[in-house]
Amino acid sequence: MNPEINVMYEKMKARLEKVVPDVELRYKAELAVEINALKKEKNAVILGHNYMEPALYYSIPDFVGDSLELSRKAAQTDKDVIVFCGVKFMAETAKILNPTKTVLLPSERAGCSLAASITTEDVRSLREQYPGAPVVTYVNTYADVKAESDICCTSGNAVEVVNSLKSDTIIFLPDEYLGSNVAHETGRRFLLPGAPLSANEKVLIGWRGRCEVHEKFTVQDITTVRSQFPDVAILAHPECSPEVTGASDFSGSTGAMIKYVRETIAPQYLLLTECSMGDNIAAENPEKDMLRLCMVRCPHMNTITMEDTLNALKYNRYVVEVPEDVRLRAERAVRRMIGIG
Ligand code: 13P
Ligand code: SF4
Repeated sequence: MNPEINVMYEKMKARLEKVVPDVELRYKAELAVEINALKKEKNAVILGHNYMEPALYYSIPDFVGDSLELSRKAAQTDKDVIVFCGVKFMAETAKILNPTKTVLLPSERAGCSLAASITTEDVRSLREQYPGAPVVTYVNTYADVKAESDICCTSGNAVEVVNSLKSDTIIFLPDEYLGSNVAHETGRRFLLPGAPLSANEKVLIGWRGRCEVHEKFTVQDITTVRSQFPDVAILAHPECSPEVTGASDFSGSTGAMIKYVRETIAPQYLLLTECSMGDNIAAENPEKDMLRLCMVRCPHMNTITMEDTLNALKYNRYVVEVPEDVRLRAERAVRRMIGIG
């Protein structure tokens, strides 16, 4: 074996031998060495979301993290090329922050059900319905929708972003469940458009977008798992329904969930989120017992493979573009968010 590949294989094995079969590690170590060489040649940085599959996650990204952490890294990079191992709205955010750099998304199919749930016309019509109400958009939206908003947020800072706004009425788009969870945490009532408002009431006006992964978890799932593992610590992403987050022990962004497992001791952990992250956490915490509930997977994140990442660097694809007028308006909302936390 080429010595460089051997070093990579040993490094991956040290982290992943209990999670990824050896035959896959050998194959992916070769790919990783090729990707990392091209990355250097092209002066590229690879950003990897926490949902990336374990072999990719532990071999090629320069930085891994949740949407907020990766937006910050994208804002700070001095590399010429950013390869985003995540989904389109994340790569667009990197482009919004780096107009002169090349941003590549390894798969053309890496969308998001939340980003697809709302259009610019929807936002404009909500502004007409609620004049003067600030618009907060979740980063899980496309650039044109971000451009219509006052400030963005991620699941990692949504509460701080909402609390930074003084208005009684705030429009919060497009995730209905994240909106309900944030309303609960900020002492506001959550309403869908058209519901009657009471005078002087603090409300969050939401939208009917849903994450096709997190909407599938139910309280019944939690009850069933707890009957088998009574002391299990259950962590739910805030894109889960308020009933599910309410029945869980912890709710937070993917980065916050990783930190929770790292810093606590429980007999078992169950993550109500994309299943690959459970593998990544299990690899980092071999002494902890991670239960996996892998019946739902994100079909978008799962399109990002190491083979496609190699081809992205080889063939300069798929280039993410945002029209300059849209980018400038979206940048205001994204930078305002980064300024808050
Ligand atoms: P995080 O910001 O928590 O990483 O979430 C991104 C996402 O798409 C969750 O489904
Ligand atoms: Fe979008 Fe849900 Fe996939 Fe995250 S897990 S990228 S919110 S569809």
